[in-house]
Amino acid sequence: MSSQNQGETTEAQLAVHWKEEELIQPPPSFIAQANVADPGIFERFSEKNFPECYHEYANLLDWYKPWTKTLDTSNPPFWKWFVGGELNVCYNCVDRHLATNRNKTALHFVPEPEQEPIQHVTYQELWVRVNEFAALLRDVCGLKKGDRVTLHLPMTAELPITMLACARLGVIHSQVFSGFSGQACGERIADSQSRVLITMDAYYRGGKLLDHKKLADIAVDKSKDEGVVPEKVLIWQRYPGKYSSETPLIPGRDFIINELLPDLRGRRVEPEHMGSTDPLFLMYTSGSTGRPKACQHSTGGYLAYVTGTSKYIQDIHPEDVYWCMADIGWITGHSYIVYGPLALGASSVVYEGVPTFPDAGRPWRIAEDLGVNIFHTSPTAIRALRRAGEDLPLKYNHHFKHMTTVGEPIEPAVWHWYYDVIGKKEAVIVDTWWQTETGGFLCSTVPALQAMKPGSGGPGIPGIYPVIFDDEGNELPAGSGKAGNICIRNPWPGLMQTIWGDPDRMVRVYFDRYCKNPNSKDWRDWPYVAGDGAVFAADGYFRILGRIDDVINVAGHRLGTKELESAALNVPEVAEAAAIPVPDELKGRVPELYVSLKPGYKASPELSQRIAQALSDTIGPIARPKNVWIVPDMPKTRSGKIMRRVLTAISTKSNTGDITTLANPDVVEEIRKTVQG
Ligand code: WTA
Repeated sequence: MSSQNQGETTEAQLAVHWKEEELIQPPPSFIAQANVADPGIFERFSEKNFPECYHEYANLLDWYKPWTKTLDTSNPPFWKWFVGGELNVCYNCVDRHLATNRNKTALHFVPEPEQEPIQHVTYQELWVRVNEFAALLRDVCGLKKGDRVTLHLPMTAELPITMLACARLGVIHSQVFSGFSGQACGERIADSQSRVLITMDAYYRGGKLLDHKKLADIAVDKSKDEGVVPEKVLIWQRYPGKYSSETPLIPGRDFIINELLPDLRGRRVEPEHMGSTDPLFLMYTSGSTGRPKACQHSTGGYLAYVTGTSKYIQDIHPEDVYWCMADIGWITGHSYIVYGPLALGASSVVYEGVPTFPDAGRPWRIAEDLGVNIFHTSPTAIRALRRAGEDLPLKYNHHFKHMTTVGEPIEPAVWHWYYDVIGKKEAVIVDTWWQTETGGFLCSTVPALQAMKPGSGGPGIPGIYPVIFDDEGNELPAGSGKAGNICIRNPWPGLMQTIWGDPDRMVRVYFDRYCKNPNSKDWRDWPYVAGDGAVFAADGYFRILGRIDDVINVAGHRLGTKELESAALNVPEVAEAAAIPVPDELKGRVPELYVSLKPGYKASPELSQRIAQALSDTIGPIARPKNVWIVPDMPKTRSGKIMRRVLTAISTKSNTGDITTLANPDVVEEIRKTVQG
């Protein structure tokens, strides 16, 4: 067990002693209108009906050609769903709604500046824009099925338009969170061998119009360094007709999309007939080794899963106005802003900016104006809104029937505020636990059928059979009170297909640990290892405790400790670096960094500042450490391993435990003085 694990286990053990929260029943008004109010769903999705139960999700889609095999397990753990079937994701999210809902809003784009009008993009308009842009990708860029493109787009309507245009052609998109640095974007261009980078000139964040195009230049340079030269950079204009970046265009490489589009007016592109198992997109996430890895998601299995869970767990009806405040640059936005809601023909809100801009009443004004009735956000956003105005939401006339929390564990007190003040005790809440890798929800209550429990994700959703193993592989029964590693016993259609370019890593990271027999073709021998600690309560609900690997979950965003440390090591003075998670009132966890210097260098506030800046430049502002502590040496084991557990204890002012076995126990007191004064 690594030192990091020991740190987490202590926390997990503490968490186990939290008191069990009381169950809260869903409001009758919600139950009366819910998509799923028949408890028969549990029987339909029970193990004896697996995998055929998932026809129920796949049948929500339009297929060009039906599948011939529901689940192919011949090459574990690379499961294949709905094999032989053909469909197009863009057709399912756009074209098929035209017959009955042409004039319905598909996307409400809400610009951050409040005086700027909201853009209501109808399904018809979305269809026209997606077609014309798909024509540009195909005919101007020569992109075809299977090619990769990297998107580094902010939260505007152009992001879903771009994704859908790619999906129409079978081009694999890889959207990089717009808050990530140019370097981080460049690494991902190189790793995915993208032919084209698609970006925007500028966007609003916190009241400022940020120059975003300048990151594209850094990204292309970085990608070139790694041997991959994208052919073109396509640039959307935040204000069509006006270039809002100070960065010059590079002739022959950079093209303004809004200048090319007039030539493509009226163009229509037939959706490609894609195989169910053809890849739809890549999404990078951090794991326990240095480089981010791309989760490859499928066409048929993925879309079926996010559509089914959007209907059953998010309770989306076509007449709903649905607002998920996540960023489309994360998996939550792909699955539950774009693909799931649009496949169901809902109206989905895309908000450009920060929730507390210009004040914490902004989300409720948006909800009032658009008639939002389903709201989806993270504990970090809820904490920030709560801090900025304890009673504020009650002053607005918004009404939600359903609310979601996702991305990190939510403290019961924060949950109650969400329920009482944001939801006005009228809305049902689901706490959905899942991951980039899993495509869609794993644990949650079925909102009309199962009571809410503050701080607990709930049981596995229908068709998901979770289990908790201890480190030796023993199953921890419900009510054991012990924390263990949460796993999913069965395959499901939303699970990623592989790690792009590194299938061994898929096996190693997610399946090796509890695989019962590597030669087995039986899915029962291949539990999926999520990498989270959890407790299984007697009533069947899971409480998620956090990561057990070297990943720090900052405001619901995963950052690898090794990524952070290697960014620090790029500063010439730094000899060693250790990143640890520390609790933060708003963001749940934030990284804190310990560094030691090469001989001949001295600590200074300027140097600490420069190291913090290096993390922010290399990864993005979310990686900025709370503190950078320059210490004389790292606490180390006799074999030379940095004892992160000891550093965590110092940062959190808790007991360092036994340090007598360290190679350099004296340094602990010195570090403590530096940090605690
Ligand atoms: C954490 C985000 C507690 C967990 C969808 C997981 C949660 C990681 C919850 C995945 C939740 C996500 N309660 N913890 N409801 N949802 N997590 O890949 O540690 O960005 O492994 O996917 O976030 O983060 P990712």
